[in-house]
Amino acid sequence: MLSREANELMCRVGAGTPMGKALRRYWMPVLQSSDLPAPDCDPFPLEIMGDKFVAFRNSRGEVGILDELCCHRQASLVMGRCEGNGIRCLFHGWKFAVDGTVLETPNVNDPQFKTRVRAKAYPVREAGGLIWAFFGPAEVEPPFPHHPWFDVPASNRLNVYALNNANYVQVFEALVDSSHLNILHADGLGLSANLQNLNFAAAAEMSFDAAPLIEVDDTTFGFHYAALRGGSKPGEDLHVRITAVLAPFQVANPNEDLWMFVVPINDYQSIHFHVWAHPERQMGEEPLRSNMLKHVGLDEEALRNFNMTWDTLNAKDQPDRLNYFRQNRAAMKQGRFSGLHSFTQEDAAVTRSAGALKDRTKETLAPTDTAVARYYRMLINTAQGMDSGKEPIGVRADPMQIFGRNVTVPYGTDWRTLVPTHTVTSRHRSAPEARVERKVKSFVPEGAA
Ligand code: FES
Ligand SMILES: [Fe+2]
Repeated sequence: MLSREANELMCRVGAGTPMGKALRRYWMPVLQSSDLPAPDCDPFPLEIMGDKFVAFRNSRGEVGILDELCCHRQASLVMGRCEGNGIRCLFHGWKFAVDGTVLETPNVNDPQFKTRVRAKAYPVREAGGLIWAFFGPAEVEPPFPHHPWFDVPASNRLNVYALNNANYVQVFEALVDSSHLNILHADGLGLSANLQNLNFAAAAEMSFDAAPLIEVDDTTFGFHYAALRGGSKPGEDLHVRITAVLAPFQVANPNEDLWMFVVPINDYQSIHFHVWAHPERQMGEEPLRSNMLKHVGLDEEALRNFNMTWDTLNAKDQPDRLNYFRQNRAAMKQGRFSGLHSFTQEDAAVTRSAGALKDRTKETLAPTDTAVARYYRMLINTAQGMDSGKEPIGVRADPMQIFGRNVTVPYGTDWRTLVPTHTVTSRHRSAPEARVERKVKSFVPEGAA
């Protein structure tokens, strides 16, 4: 449970808010390279943290992100023409380079005039199939973080995102909530165990225990959390899933082939970026690419059917309580657990069913929510730290040193030895005595097929 004030503090991301100020200190992905598919392609109407921008690619292939409204008289540059070395405003023809330089002002005679104005442009990078931006003050721009999957060939990488009609914290917290996996996703995990060339078998192994012990180590970059199953007595193997959480909204998944970011579009909508990458598996090539996307419900059709694409996100017809979030109730009667399409739709349905920005004053957190509670705390501390001039946590973290793990180890193994590169700042576990008293708790829904 959180106070109303604390909930507002961590969820509101507008430019003037404490959290908004903190988030603007990090580099963040904002689009995929494929959203600007070619030089001089159509510009992209971008919204991040409640601010509106235009993203475009010039004829040299460079990406620019500018404030959406033209610095002359505020016409939207989304209608602009991408011409050669910049984007031209439709109203009076001013033309801007990717760095905001005014290249032409055809309605002004004085040739010096354009040197005295500049469009607001943001630092941009393109790496790992993503377009990244930094929205904070220039004097505190941190080094651009290098991720391990930047170095993997495009054929071995799969970029995809889903849009959500929910606040970023709400979408993110399901990523630090191991105990929902074999309940909400029971149908999908059952199927996953049979999928040879997809790396889901690892996740499916956890199905034997619905109430893992959760341990969290706060670190200098955010935190590590371990979901521990089994291993409660000598001779019994311990199944460990370690997730690395990088502030403010990144996850290195325990399967070691998936990284995720949940970036706020505004207070009520977010972009959930997924990057799968593997040194050998060609995740970016067919048929693996389509198999993967279809299996988790991230293929174009499944996303569109659940209003998770740009053209459907704000449509009038939405999954909601009156249509049971598009559940198939008949399939549930025949043995399906959730009645929802797949992992992505299951997560989206439960997330948005709480309201676009949920009221956490009414929540009752359980021992298995230890990592969720730590995530809230990390964000709240970060937002509060902005007043005292503290640098937000993890702004300079090196993602090359940060990873998840999914392994089975002998009884008594300390999971921390599996992720040796992190510096612990404090420790938390789901219940002090849980390790001794813990019993494997299987979950079988009534009427399951
Ligand atoms: S409003 Fe853009 S050129 Fe005048
Ligand atoms: Fe989930």
